Amino acid sequence: MKKGILTVLTAVFASLAAVADEGMWLPSLIGERIKDMRSKGFRLTAEDIYSVNKASMKDAVVLFGRGCTGEIVSAEGLLLTNHHCGYGAIQSHSTLDHDYLTYGFWARSRDEELPNERLTVRILVRMEDVTDRIAAGADKLKLIQAARAEGPGYDASVEEMYYGNQSFLFVYQEFSDVRLVGAPPSSIGKFGGDTDNWIWPRHTGDFSVFRIYAGRDNNPAAYSPDNVPYRPRRHFAISTRGVKEGDFTMIYGFPGSTQQYILSDAVDYVQNLSDPMKIDLRTRRLDIISAAQEADPKVRIQYAAKHAGIANAWKKWQGEVAGLKRMNTLAAKRDYERRFAEWAADKPEYAGLLDSMRAAYARGREPYFHQELLSESIRSLELYPLVRHGVLSSSWRRGEDDAIAEQRRIKRAAFLKDYDPAVDRALVKSALRGFADYCPEGFSAEAQAEIDRHGGMDAYADYVFDHTRMLLPQEEIERLDSAAVVSDPIYRFVVLFDGKRAPEYYRRNLSNISDIERWYRPYLRALRAFDPDRAFFPDANLTLRVAYGTVAGYEYADGEYHTPQTTLDGIIAKDNPEIYDYDIPQRLRDLYASKEYGRWGVEIDGRRTVPVCFLASNQTTGGNSGSPVLNGRGELIGINFDRTWRSTMSDIAFDPTICRNIAVDIRYVLFVIDKVGGAGYLIDEMEVR
Ligand code: ARG
Ligand code: GLU
Repeated sequence: MKKGILTVLTAVFASLAAVADEGMWLPSLIGERIKDMRSKGFRLTAEDIYSVNKASMKDAVVLFGRGCTGEIVSAEGLLLTNHHCGYGAIQSHSTLDHDYLTYGFWARSRDEELPNERLTVRILVRMEDVTDRIAAGADKLKLIQAARAEGPGYDASVEEMYYGNQSFLFVYQEFSDVRLVGAPPSSIGKFGGDTDNWIWPRHTGDFSVFRIYAGRDNNPAAYSPDNVPYRPRRHFAISTRGVKEGDFTMIYGFPGSTQQYILSDAVDYVQNLSDPMKIDLRTRRLDIISAAQEADPKVRIQYAAKHAGIANAWKKWQGEVAGLKRMNTLAAKRDYERRFAEWAADKPEYAGLLDSMRAAYARGREPYFHQELLSESIRSLELYPLVRHGVLSSSWRRGEDDAIAEQRRIKRAAFLKDYDPAVDRALVKSALRGFADYCPEGFSAEAQAEIDRHGGMDAYADYVFDHTRMLLPQEEIERLDSAAVVSDPIYRFVVLFDGKRAPEYYRRNLSNISDIERWYRPYLRALRAFDPDRAFFPDANLTLRVAYGTVAGYEYADGEYHTPQTTLDGIIAKDNPEIYDYDIPQRLRDLYASKEYGRWGVEIDGRRTVPVCFLASNQTTGGNSGSPVLNGRGELIGINFDRTWRSTMSDIAFDPTICRNIAVDIRYVLFVIDKVGGAGYLIDEMEVR
């Protein structure tokens, strides 16, 4: 009987694996998927995707900065990524006179392309399974050092897959001269802002343009005016033939982190404890910031980026909780684990596994929640970066001199430019209350005594802000001595409320608490034996992956189907000069009025328009921003930049009927470059089909 159910369920799992677009596959092992990919419309070979011997698509995909993806689109190193990925670079070149964020930027010649300190891109040279070598005693560090010595600008790392059951050596070439070539105005690149973030229908032109430069020998070189455009082994051709529902899509990029294999205990923690607390505390912060923004236009600008940052994860977690509940992931995992336990019962090496893991979760839950609570409350003090290092670093303990030395290093003016002490004061009051609401044992005795001495949490926060000197201008701070800095109420606040460091770095699902992590390795090994038909792929870990699916809408609500393509008409419908997020450039209005769309115009349902964004069913996550979206011929059809908020549980459990990534249509990118930016000469160096 039981065996019967298991067989049926395994069959269900297997058939799901066959239809689902779930998966983030390792490029070097993509051969195992190629049959399935071809059945969905992929026309090329595994060698076209990844090869060490000849140029392949991987040579045109870059890790952009520390957490985005980009793609090379010309023989002269031209690179596309998202506007929100290039944002820091665009902002750093913006001044009141040259406000590139507001008005956009287009280099009219190579000399006008703007170098960026600290921006790098990495291209994967090769990846190699080193599991056996490490098992045979090879030293990881030696492998890495040897790989680094292989070529100019080479860097390498060994990354674990399946909780260490497999290890791969990744060898990259890193380029440090990456220049800004173009960016649309924010009213296009961030169109819809926070309002539309994680939302479909979407109309954001979320792209920016860079160029990789190299030395005359085509190898990585530090910035120099003598550097020349990098000549890549491979770049993507661009297809303007467009997409329609059901078309094959593939995403090649660097997804950051997923947790497909976590136990129900971890899902329970995320869904019922961690996410709800974080959502609640961020709602309180966002309410405070929004109210201040509405009351004062200066605060609106000062807090725009901060608000966006807080709201981004806030919205995503809400989608995650809703999605996990809708999918019943907790019950499904419990059931799966129950069947696993039955299967494991007579296998000595696995029999006690789940119990050990459960016990470890039970131990880890509370201390970890405390860390998360701290970072969402006390550590959300905006002044924290000004004092944190001094309080928490070990060098601090060497002596008080460090306190003033640290204060001298801080770039206070830049910080204060986007800082409103009244907002922070309100945030700290809310943080203290939030901490108290969620921490059963309350504040430490010393912290509580300090609160009581000042007559309660609000009065204490007022005292801190009334008396701190950390907001004085830089020159005045530099005249203080260390004793004055250390006794400052802000320093005291941090010491009292956040005096101890996290014992170890915890991932939010607890799976890397060393006490738990060591069990996941045998657990994953056991799962493969228990569930041999499941299509296993390693969790995302910011290594290069291939996802594939199709252009696809989805049923948003009963009787309400969301089609997968948006157009310029939708932008015009949202356009509203009164609403910051929806105030488009006049140029776009004019183009719409004159219908001068040039070669980027298309006919949709009998009207002439320009395609803007599309939905597809590829599994993506943070880090996939900027990733190339490719058609069955490996041509670029879009740039990935988001998911719908209801998809976000896919970091834990993927639902093929709901989960959709959002891409900006490459035709809109070209239209904006050409018709809004007047930078058609950039398109001349691309291979547009
Ligand atoms: N949700 C996207 C991501 O997770 C875009 C974030 C940037 N855009 C914004 N409106 N905050 O990165
Ligand atoms: N915007 C995300 C990023 O920066 C991608 C969206 C997602 O999480 O899928 O990588």
